[in-house]
Amino acid sequence: MLIELKNVNKYYQNGSQRFHVLKHINLAIDRGEFLSIMGPSGAGKTSLINLIGFIDRQFEGEYLFNGKSYQQASDRTLSRIRNQSVGFVFQNFKLIGNNTILENVELPLLYGDLSKRAAKPIVEKALERVGLPNSSQKIPNELSGGQQQRVAIARALVHQPKFIIADEPTGALDSQTSAEIMQIFRDLNQQEKTTIVLVTHDSQVSQYGERLIKILDGAIIADQEVTPRALH
Ligand SMILES: Nc1ncnc2c1ncn2[C@@H]1O[C@H](COP(=O)(O)OP(=O)(O)O)[C@@H](O)[C@H]1O
Ligand SMILES: [Mg+2]
Repeated sequence: MLIELKNVNKYYQNGSQRFHVLKHINLAIDRGEFLSIMGPSGAGKTSLINLIGFIDRQFEGEYLFNGKSYQQASDRTLSRIRNQSVGFVFQNFKLIGNNTILENVELPLLYGDLSKRAAKPIVEKALERVGLPNSSQKIPNELSGGQQQRVAIARALVHQPKFIIADEPTGALDSQTSAEIMQIFRDLNQQEKTTIVLVTHDSQVSQYGERLIKILDGAIIADQEVTPRALH
């Protein structure tokens, strides 16, 4: 298993109030899976993926990644694992507005100690992969929302991540553009066997995956196979 959560519970402390945000989560995700997570706003989806993506380790229970627990690891080790193993894609793209597309996509590589020169061909390949071969000198505002999300996916790809976490990646896009973006995720999953963990509100979007879990009030209430959606 790539990811295994065993009886995970998480609480937020607000003053004297303790809020039980994740309840007895048991979840195993295999290499190469494409998992969608659905649930109403406030259900705990982002809390769950922050934990899976090594952003948060304030929880009870066990998280095994490649069979290993990082709960006792140093912050430094955890950032290294996060940078090398996880690609993040967000609803609002989170690109740096006054940096070029090239600079945005190369950033994780520079954090990983690569030189700009060594990073360049990797960045170009990633931009090609997402269908944006000639945009590296532009800035994010010169691109459409769909193109900016492609840049964010390219940035998520440069380290050949073990898995991609996408939190509502189509939440700010129209349905045609959403379909194009979802097709990129589907291709990455099918052609490169990239594991994908997708959060969405949109049941159409959830059908690009092969497995769907539903979360309500912090608990997994369904875990089912998805019948593949006809391509259009
Ligand atoms: N840092 C925090 N401190 C306290 N409560 C939080 C915090 N982050 C989220 N919550 C609460 O936890 C619940 C789940 O939030 P979240 O994981 O963001 O849900 P979702 O992504 O499904 O909308 C919500 O009620 C939210 O208000
Ligand atoms: Mg959320």
